[in-house]
Amino acid sequence: MKKYIFANWKSYKTQKEAEDWVRCVQIPTEATCEVAVFPTFTQIPLVTRLAPESLSIGAQDVSPYPLGPYTGAIAADQLQDLRVKYCLIGHSERRRYFNETYQDVSKKAEQLVQSGITPVICVDKDYIVEQQAALTQEVMSKSIVAYEPLAAIGSGSEEDIGTVQEVVKHIHSVFGDVPVIYGGSVAAQNVGTYLTVLDGVLVGSKSLDCSHFNELLAATL
Ligand code: PGA
Repeated sequence: MKKYIFANWKSYKTQKEAEDWVRCVQIPTEATCEVAVFPTFTQIPLVTRLAPESLSIGAQDVSPYPLGPYTGAIAADQLQDLRVKYCLIGHSERRRYFNETYQDVSKKAEQLVQSGITPVICVDKDYIVEQQAALTQEVMSKSIVAYEPLAAIGSGSEEDIGTVQEVVKHIHSVFGDVPVIYGGSVAAQNVGTYLTVLDGVLVGSKSLDCSHFNELLAATL
């Protein structure tokens, strides 16, 4: 199975910073991983225009509704227009600061699947079963699951590989045969170890500076 390296910019970067990053990123020609960047909505058109073929585009959120009278919302069809291939849903920051529920995540995933975009469903270990129960079989079969332990996010202290392996086993027993990636203080120094037991990684802090991210990509070879 191919490995995924996903860069989550969160709510960072101006247009100029986004442009500089895309011009600086170096995806090794011998890389076998699928590399994608997840900018904020406003940066997606710019990044899509400038990105090399080898860099896919993701979004960080989507409306739970289709195109229609939903002021302020961005529908899955509008992301598809911008060549968005993946979309994060249910990141712990969305659950915590925007009160996203299991049902919201489920509705968003439905919209994405209908528009041909792959949902990247983020979970922590204490609600894997609850989140899965809110999803349809069809959505699950078309999604990637991102295991994101809260304590490891943005803290610089990544979760140890043994614990990650246990949780991945649990995710497979609940979700079935889905790709599972890990996010939480992934860096050039630990990415290789994670890739031995996972289908990919979701990188936050260490994806913001393009030279750190280039080092991380080089470490996957
Ligand atoms: P981090 O963020 O790499 O800064 O820990 C990961 C994430 O929240 O996706």
